[in-house]
Amino acid sequence: MKADLTIRSHLRDYGVHFVGELAVPLRELADGHAFFVIDALVWRTYAPVFQAVVGEDRLLTIEAVETNKTLDKCREIIETLVDRRVRRGDRLVAVGGGIIQDVTAFTASITYRGIEWSFVPTTLLAQADSCIGSKTSINLGDRKNLVGNFYPPSDVYIDTGFLESLSVDDIKSGIGEILHYYIYANDDALDDLLGDYATLIRDRGLLSTHIRRSLEIKRSVIEADEFDRGERNKFNYGHTFGHALESATGYAVKHGQAVTVGMDLANYMSTTMGLMSDERFQDLHRRLSVNFPEYDLATIDLEAYCEALSKDKKNMGDNVGCILAQDVGILFKRQLPMDETFRETVRRYFLEFSPGKDRDVRRADPR
Ligand SMILES: NC(=O)c1ccc[n+]([C@@H]2O[C@H](COP(=O)([O-])OP(=O)(O)OC[C@H]3O[C@@H](n4cnc5c(N)ncnc54)[C@H](O)[C@@H]3O)[C@@H](O)[C@H]2O)c1
Repeated sequence: MKADLTIRSHLRDYGVHFVGELAVPLRELADGHAFFVIDALVWRTYAPVFQAVVGEDRLLTIEAVETNKTLDKCREIIETLVDRRVRRGDRLVAVGGGIIQDVTAFTASITYRGIEWSFVPTTLLAQADSCIGSKTSINLGDRKNLVGNFYPPSDVYIDTGFLESLSVDDIKSGIGEILHYYIYANDDALDDLLGDYATLIRDRGLLSTHIRRSLEIKRSVIEADEFDRGERNKFNYGHTFGHALESATGYAVKHGQAVTVGMDLANYMSTTMGLMSDERFQDLHRRLSVNFPEYDLATIDLEAYCEALSKDKKNMGDNVGCILAQDVGILFKRQLPMDETFRETVRRYFLEFSPGKDRDVRRADPR
C-alpha cells in the first residue's frame, strides 16, 4: 500500500497511510507475527472490528491513564510478550492515543534490543501530532516524560472514523496541538481552523485536512532535526507552560488545551518583556482563547505551578527553558530566571486572562 506521507528517519523510513477501511491493513498486520496493545476503552468501543482479526492470545488491553505510562507497565508487557512467545522478528501494534503509543513504542525499543512496531492512532492528538517524530516517553513518579528514546514505528494507519467516539475535550486537546503547528509555521490554515472551530467539533471527518497539514509541518522539521537539537526545540512553544498547567491542575486540563493556554502565557511573557506588541498579544489571545479549557485559571496555586515549571527537563540551572514569540511564525528559545518578576507575570496572567475575561495587557516589567 503506497503511503500518503513518507517520513525519513534515522532507523527506518516509515509511511503514514490515511485509510478509509481499517479492516484491510488490520488483516495484513494480524498475520500471526503481530501482538496488539490496545487502549481498553477503544477495545470496548470497537470490539467487533478487532475481534474479527485479532486472536485473544495476541492481544493485551491497557487503560489509557498516565499512571500506566511507567517502567513497571513496560516490564509487565515484556513479561506477557515472553510468555506468549513473541519473537524478535514479530511486531507490536499499538492501537490508541499518545499513552498507548508511548508505552508500546518504549517497550518495543527495549524488548530483544528492539522489535518493530506499527501504530493505529485513535485520538486527534495522536493522529495530527504524536504518531510521527519517533519520541517515546515514560513517566517517573510525578515527573512526566522523563525516560525515553527515539524509536520510530514501521508504519502508521490513520482512520479518522475513530474520532467519532472521542470526547469533546479530547478533540479540543488535539486542536491545541494543531494550532501550535500552524502558529509555528504561520500557516494560512490557522484562520480556517479557528473559523470552522464549532463545525469541526461536530463534523469530525472534516478534521482530516488539518491532520494532514499538521503532519506535513511537523515532518518538515523532524526530518531535519529528528533528535531535537535545534529547530525542533521550537515545537516546545506552549509546552513548558502547558505541562506545568496540566500538573498544577492535577491533569484536569488536557494536554492540548494546556498547550493553548501555554502559548498564550508565552506570548504574554514576551509582551511584558517588550518582545511582542500588545496588539499582537491581544489579537492572538482572542484567537487562542477559542480553544481554552473551562477552568478558572485564577484558582491555580502559583507555588504548585512554579514548582512544576522548575522540574521541566529543558531547564538549565534555576532558569526555565521556554519558547517565546515575537509574532506568529517568529519563535525563539530563552532561559528565564524564575525570579519575582517572572512569578508576578504568571500570577497576573492567571488573574487577568482566565476564560471569560478580556482585559488589556499590562506590562509587568518592561525590559
Ligand atoms: N510520543 C510523543 O511524541 C507524544 C507527543 C505528544 C503527547 N504524547 C503523550 O500522549 C499522551 C496524551 O495522548 P492523547 O491525548 O492522544 O490521549 P490518551 O492516550 O491520553 O487518551 C485520552 C483518552 O481518550 C480515550 N480514547 C482514545 N481513543 C479513543 C477513541 N477513538 N474514542 C473514544 N475514546 C478514546 C482514551 O481511552 C483516554 O481515556 C500524553 O501522555 C502525552 O505525554 C506523546
